[in-house]
Amino acid sequence: MSTVAEHYERHLGPIYLWMAGGAQAALQAGDAEIEALNLPAARGDLVLDLGAGFGMHSIPLARRGARVVAIDSSAGLLATLGGLRGELPIQAVNGDLLGFQSHLTESPSAILCMGDTIAHLPDFGAVEKLIEQASSELAPGGVFVASFRDYSEPLRGKERFIPVRSDANRILTCFLEYEPEAVLVHDILHERAPEGWRTRVSCYRKLRLPPERLAGCLRSNGFEVRREPGMRGMVRILAQRV
Ligand SMILES: C[S@@+](CC[C@H](N)C(=O)[O-])C[C@H]1O[C@@H](n2cnc3c(N)ncnc32)[C@H](O)[C@@H]1O
Repeated sequence: MSTVAEHYERHLGPIYLWMAGGAQAALQAGDAEIEALNLPAARGDLVLDLGAGFGMHSIPLARRGARVVAIDSSAGLLATLGGLRGELPIQAVNGDLLGFQSHLTESPSAILCMGDTIAHLPDFGAVEKLIEQASSELAPGGVFVASFRDYSEPLRGKERFIPVRSDANRILTCFLEYEPEAVLVHDILHERAPEGWRTRVSCYRKLRLPPERLAGCLRSNGFEVRREPGMRGMVRILAQRV
């Protein structure tokens, strides 16, 4: 079993942009999601993107006039972001998203945690800590958004084998194994090599976070909460600080 950081650094990071369909398609999808969020942000507002990856949401946010702090534990994915952001006002921070407060010098108008990043936290205690921190940093009207997969109902049998992406030279398949509070994600990568196909497997743990549990935690920390369908079968929780 790998840690999340090891899994991204050694396995998923180098192929992440390919997995997301390439830079142009991924940034278009990120832009469509930012458009759908309709954030109450003014030009020049500070927005935090936690687990920003290669900048799928940070880059569209900055293109729309936000100043973005993009935090991620993967140096490789932040290097990709560095190559894509051009002159946009995005500060890339290599670190743990739970330490986000030490990178703020002013109150953000929004905190985003998109694309199943929140499920990478080790347990529900860490989710509670994140929400408490977001609640204390956001001014009234500020918004916290998380999009993630609802793993609360386990997939069974063959459903647990999920084709992610493939082309002539690479095939990525995911296999899910359920524990009571977590799901073990096995990413199986076949890559064409001069000697034939090469297979590598890496496994890490994700949290089974019921959307209603996150919503309840947000409400008890002073947020009004709305749930809606997100991209690619994810759930999206939008929470506004009262
Ligand atoms: C599934 S990707 C989502 C990336 C991006 N938000 C998107 O929607 O494309 C999860 C990201 O969270 C990062 N990550 C996971 N745990 C983290 C942590 N504790 N602190 C900072 N980044 C983390 C990973 O390195 C990865 O880039």
